[in-house]
Amino acid sequence: MIRVTASPNIAFIKYWGKRESTSDETRNIGLNTSVSMTLSHAQTKVQIEKLNGGMAHQIFVDKNPASPADRAKIETHIKRIERHFETEYPLGSGLLKIESENNFPSSAGIASSASAFAALTIGICAAIIGKERTRDLMENNSALLSMLARRGSGSASRSVCGGFMKWDGEHAESLASKWNLLDTIVILSRKAKSISSSDGHALALTSPHFNERLEDLPSRTSALLAAIDARDIHTLGALLETEALEMHQIAETSSPPVHYLGSESRRLIAAIQALRERQFYFTIDAGPNLHFISEKPIVADLERVLAGLNLQAEIWQDGLGTGPSLE
Ligand code: PMV
Repeated sequence: MIRVTASPNIAFIKYWGKRESTSDETRNIGLNTSVSMTLSHAQTKVQIEKLNGGMAHQIFVDKNPASPADRAKIETHIKRIERHFETEYPLGSGLLKIESENNFPSSAGIASSASAFAALTIGICAAIIGKERTRDLMENNSALLSMLARRGSGSASRSVCGGFMKWDGEHAESLASKWNLLDTIVILSRKAKSISSSDGHALALTSPHFNERLEDLPSRTSALLAAIDARDIHTLGALLETEALEMHQIAETSSPPVHYLGSESRRLIAAIQALRERQFYFTIDAGPNLHFISEKPIVADLERVLAGLNLQAEIWQDGLGTGPSLE
């Protein structure tokens, strides 16, 4: 039995818009460098067992047989990892029983595809090349795992290690910082987004602001990396908010436009921006829910703001994680 856990990551500099690709090897490569923090408490657990007989892989997601779309993505992922190792291991993985489960609420603005494809990549590698060699890759060649995970889901490239990750081109790499930041997630809505992030990536290039964004990003990214190194929460926070709002501006000016933020998200953003001497700063992925990054716990502060706005929300407390595990 192979057991893997991996956590999602929250992007500080977003992957939004990908390079054109003509092969599986070049799938899901961002047009810009992105930077993220791997979380700790939110986790995907993947359990993999080799089947003795049968005609097909058995695949379960959150205890139910996988939907046809999820099944197709996971089967493709098994094939691409088999292909990668086929000279050494021509028999591949054989038929597998794969069970994948998240411990966090779905559609909560926590990217489940990142943790799922990071965990699946490690688990499928272990089924093909063995646990020992896979552990060696986790310690000494996370770039290879990152590259394989990326082909399953772009942001998964940044969930194969803990801490902070920088993804540029084919794979992501770990940053040295161990700054113990918290990510407090305010879940305003659990409705699944109407436009998937894959469609969002394609539409991003139609925004009249997209090229200007690409030109501005290298200096924003260097400043953000320097703020992480210096543990400067205020500089980091200002950059996080500019970046998140810009990603949403790109989405909203794409043709057709994509609106991920609801009126409640906007009210919360405005109320937070009006606060003085803040110790916490927001970022937002492709959805209506807000992530607050801070050095100290801020749940009580957020509850006060939410009560003042008469907003109902669930809060998920997370923070810097140490990366995937394989048993
Ligand atoms: O990996 P994807 O295709 O789900 O894209 C993720 C896009 C964002 O979450 C919005 C940003 C990011 O960098 O994670």
